[in-house]
Amino acid sequence: MRETDKHRSGIIRAYESLFPRCGKYLEIGIYNGGSLEWARDFYGCEVYGIDITLPDPIEGVTMVELDQADTEGLVRFGEEYGPFDLIIDDGSHVGSLTLNTFEALHRFARYYVIEDWGAGYLHPDFEDLHIAVLRLVWDHGGYLVNLGQSGFAVIGTEPLEELLRR
Ligand SMILES: C[S@@+](CC[C@H](N)C(=O)[O-])C[C@H]1O[C@@H](n2cnc3c(N)ncnc32)[C@H](O)[C@@H]1O
Repeated sequence: MRETDKHRSGIIRAYESLFPRCGKYLEIGIYNGGSLEWARDFYGCEVYGIDITLPDPIEGVTMVELDQADTEGLVRFGEEYGPFDLIIDDGSHVGSLTLNTFEALHRFARYYVIEDWGAGYLHPDFEDLHIAVLRLVWDHGGYLVNLGQSGFAVIGTEPLEELLRR
């Protein structure tokens, strides 16, 4: 089993309790593929990943080499493989790229999650990611899940209502 820091941060426990029925899963930011293996085994269904560099193939997982800056490529990807129950952006964490990816892909998502949005507070390289994400939550509806030093934003009013009904 490949490693993922999602275990350490507590994000996996949060996902498993918030999204117990996720069927089709896309993650932007694969790294070594540990989180895709977890998604495949936990959800037992279709798992997709996007990254600028791909690790060795993972059985049952579709991985595509794609840059978060490539708007047309992202839209083509969504049209070819979407829609998804859950899209997670755990890629560059750069504000402009996070916004670009959201604009291209959120129409293909039931739940759209942006991980580690608080990184925007840490370094100018992230281009005020936190401001961008708070703006998305404000404009589209959604909420923030706080997990100590990490956390994520869930965007979209429909998913929010659905989760609260559970
Ligand atoms: C934090 S790691 C992902 C960790 C993985 N999601 C996990 O939970 O185990 C971030 C990944 O984002 C990718 N990345 C960085 N900039 C990117 C870009 N512009 N487009 C696509 N992927 C990018 C990196 O190559 C890296 O693999």
